[in-house]
Amino acid sequence: MKLLIKNGRVVDPSQDLDDTRDVLIVEGKIAKIDASIPEAGAQVLQAVGRVIAPGFIDMHVHLREPGYEDKETIRTGCAAAAAGGFTSICCMPNTNPVNDSRAVTEYILARAREEGAVNVYAIGAITRGSQGDLLSEIGDLRAGGCVAISDDGKPVSNALIMRRALEYAGMWKMPVIDHCEDLNLAENGVMHEGYYSTVLGLKGIPGMSEDVMVQRNILIASATGQHVHIAHLSTAGAIAAVREAKRRGVHITCEVAPHHFALTDKDVSSYDTSTKMKPPLRSEEDRQALLAALKDGTVDCIATDHAPHTYDEKNVEYDYAPFGIVGLETAVSLSLDRLVHSGLISMTRLVGLLSTNPARILGLKGKGSLRIGSDADVTLLNPQRKITVDADRFRSKGRNTPFNGWKLKGAPAATIVAGKIVWQE
Ligand code: DOR
Ligand code: ZN
Repeated sequence: MKLLIKNGRVVDPSQDLDDTRDVLIVEGKIAKIDASIPEAGAQVLQAVGRVIAPGFIDMHVHLREPGYEDKETIRTGCAAAAAGGFTSICCMPNTNPVNDSRAVTEYILARAREEGAVNVYAIGAITRGSQGDLLSEIGDLRAGGCVAISDDGKPVSNALIMRRALEYAGMWKMPVIDHCEDLNLAENGVMHEGYYSTVLGLKGIPGMSEDVMVQRNILIASATGQHVHIAHLSTAGAIAAVREAKRRGVHITCEVAPHHFALTDKDVSSYDTSTKMKPPLRSEEDRQALLAALKDGTVDCIATDHAPHTYDEKNVEYDYAPFGIVGLETAVSLSLDRLVHSGLISMTRLVGLLSTNPARILGLKGKGSLRIGSDADVTLLNPQRKITVDADRFRSKGRNTPFNGWKLKGAPAATIVAGKIVWQE
């Protein structure tokens, strides 16, 4: 019942803490943080050289169950999350059936309690079947346990639906998460529109297909006074719009996925379908804008958009492959290597992006903090560990990663959920 984590560097932005400490967990809660805590019957986990952070939360995951268990299940997705250093994940509703009702939400949450190594939060659909025309029963979704609503995978094209969704969700202080894409502008593009789409002969998705929807959402969020969260933001234009809207006090938050800060449209040159996702890998200029926004605080969190697909689905010509790549088991190493070791952001800022901020955005009680009495969800990091990404060893069923074989510095060391070690390096 007692776990004592000893001599680690506790990094907790929720209490401005960055110091070497012991952390005592009793009955699933943080009981004490001190310079030295006696072992007194506790299981001891040595953490010299490790960072002890409040458990990481990935607010954008596709678990695929129910309906697409060949791609991923709640069990395998949660195992991947644990191995990736995440103690909580939020699952998007584009399952089959779509999670647009309390019954589906309750089913997912019950399965997660039975089979999941980590905490699972459900995100309900904004519209019935995510078809874009009739609102779901948002109050029912909330009562069933949803923490946000989204039609992710698809944008909310109808501005009136977006307005109503914000007004209803606002009654429960739930964010509306939008996948920002103007489908007319995007047409049937398969990669970012620019120099490389021309050279490669692939149909482009222009950056403005994202920018116009982000601008529209800012207008509606501003008019309604409600909270809109931009999923997987990828363009310089969208970043500039969010930065400016935040300055004016609009209730807007956003997330960036590791592939968008680590790769560009140039990486599509291999025609490897594991570089195909929505939004697509953008230009170097867009990537630089994301890095600047990760640094200056415009970006609220890092989320993976973990989107597993089967080998056969992805093993086709670029045009025919489904959009999406896996991310749970590479996100933390990519973030440590590309953002922290590169000197762009501090460890404290990274923990904010991966834990404190997503907990705040979604209003997750007891999460995102190591304050006394908080849930004992803890992520241990080994910032110095050098790893080589090996997709064959993923816990996820999905192997669709563009990072296979990459050498990265920094990795999760242990994942602790409610005081139990669910994964260790
Ligand atoms: O690439 C993507 N894949 N983007 C999305 O928005 C949806 C996701 C999926 O469900 O496969
Ligand atoms: Zn999406």
